[in-house]
Amino acid sequence: MDLAVEAKQLTKTYGEGDTAVHALRQADVEIPIGEFVVLLGASGSGKTTFLNQVGALEAPTSGSISANGQDLSDLDDDERTDYRLKSVGFIFQFYNLVPTLTAIENVELIAELTGGDARSRSEEMLHQVGLGDRMDHFPGQLSGGQQQRVSIARGLVKNPPLLLADEPTGSLDVETGSQILSLLRDTVDGGARTIVTVTHNTEITRIAHRVIELRDGEVVGVRTNSDPANPVDLDW
Ligand SMILES: Nc1ncnc2c1ncn2[C@@H]1O[C@H](COP(=O)(O)OP(=O)(O)OP(=O)(O)O)[C@@H](O)[C@H]1O
Ligand SMILES: [Mg+2]
Repeated sequence: MDLAVEAKQLTKTYGEGDTAVHALRQADVEIPIGEFVVLLGASGSGKTTFLNQVGALEAPTSGSISANGQDLSDLDDDERTDYRLKSVGFIFQFYNLVPTLTAIENVELIAELTGGDARSRSEEMLHQVGLGDRMDHFPGQLSGGQQQRVSIARGLVKNPPLLLADEPTGSLDVETGSQILSLLRDTVDGGARTIVTVTHNTEITRIAHRVIELRDGEVVGVRTNSDPANPVDLDW
């Protein structure tokens, strides 16, 4: 089984002494390539901390993490930057778009970092997420669901093997959220891409190939769905 992410005894402690917060405690996690994985847990359970580790945004306190075949704790600064640039796409709850740039400009900004014809690749991505007719709109002129589509286009335009989404539907109504989840899941189906989506909503776990549950920084359960549900059939 080829793994997209492998964490061994992964531990992250913020602060020290009496004020230390144990955000991840010796977490062992294996995520096979090509899966849509949901990371489930209550607020404060360590979900974002784990994503930040996979994205090489922070160094672990102890233990190890590898992703995309690279041991992330082994990388020097340049290699970490290169990894973040080419190997992972990020999608956030509140979209994080640049308000003074149009939809296409927001996507191009990231496309340019990885070379090639940034304009045409950005256009293609926006078409793919159903926003071909909104490319020149500013984020403030788009609905929440449309803004999240722009952010998905931005996350995918680098064609990263790993896509990390932190509560991507947290600010959306049920119907729009289902559309966004369908879109995310379509980007993995049949492909080599792996998606890790964070949620605290147990209903969303039904569409995942694999569910990893965190509690107080510990992995308390892993289960797989042999026949994941269709996002439009969720009842949430
Ligand atoms: N930079 C930081 N400095 C100190 N403590 C932190 C930092 N980041 C996270 N923590 C703490 O680590 C624990 C896990 O936080 P994390 O953000 O991973 O939780 P989460 O599962 O993503 O929660 P939520 O669902 O609310 O987003 C929390 O107790 C949090 O306060
Ligand atoms: Mg979080």
